Amino acid sequence: MAGMADSGFKATGFKATVWDERYSASELVWSAGPNMFVEQHGRDLEPGRMVDLGAGEARNALWFAEKGWDATAVDYSAVGIDKASQIADKRDVDLTTIVADLTSFVPEAERYDLVLLAYIHLPPEDRATVLANAASAVAPGGHLLLVGHDATNLEHGYGGPQSADVLTSPDEVVAGLGDSFEIIRAEVADREVATDDGPAVAKDTVVFAHRVA
Ligand SMILES: C[S@@+](CC[C@H](N)C(=O)[O-])C[C@H]1O[C@@H](n2cnc3c(N)ncnc32)[C@H](O)[C@@H]1O
Repeated sequence: MAGMADSGFKATGFKATVWDERYSASELVWSAGPNMFVEQHGRDLEPGRMVDLGAGEARNALWFAEKGWDATAVDYSAVGIDKASQIADKRDVDLTTIVADLTSFVPEAERYDLVLLAYIHLPPEDRATVLANAASAVAPGGHLLLVGHDATNLEHGYGGPQSADVLTSPDEVVAGLGDSFEIIRAEVADREVATDDGPAVAKDTVVFAHRVA
């Protein structure tokens, strides 16, 4: 069911290796189901073509695929992408997978009805490039959804990267989208996380935008 598109990229970089090890170490690093904000914004969209950039084990792309979307999962961890393909096969859904580094991979312009970036934490210059490429890949009339640990999570939230350098904010994301988008939601939102010590709250940047031009 799962098809691997050829990106020509080999995941040999240090960071991809770290993620490969992480994905090899347990059956599922992330949940089997979608992220709560992805579900909130994705459930009422008309199925079309979507791409999940930095998909990992593709919990989100798989959820869209099961809802009838033509879904593509991109990640530089070959192990994460391989797991995504295996899960797609087990669930009997079609999922296109691409192993690629988002800092050099350019998704086709105006191809997707939904472009998703979930918890991709990159240094500022890479973050700007990846967001600009993601924005260009949204078809007119389509949507972009970005969810990530917010900069305020460092002091006020649970978990996530502990380096301010790789954290984002709604204002930064909105500025990076430019004038072609109508902003439907741009805020810091709470997400409840179950921990060994009971429930905790993570602070997430959530930006949902509609491409108008
Ligand atoms: C925190 S995980 C989130 C995975 C997925 N989006 C989710 O929400 O379940 C971050 C993912 O980003 C991927 N990633 C980080 N930097 C990347 C890059 N430069 N190119 C491609 N993937 C990258 C990692 O391999 C990892 O799978």
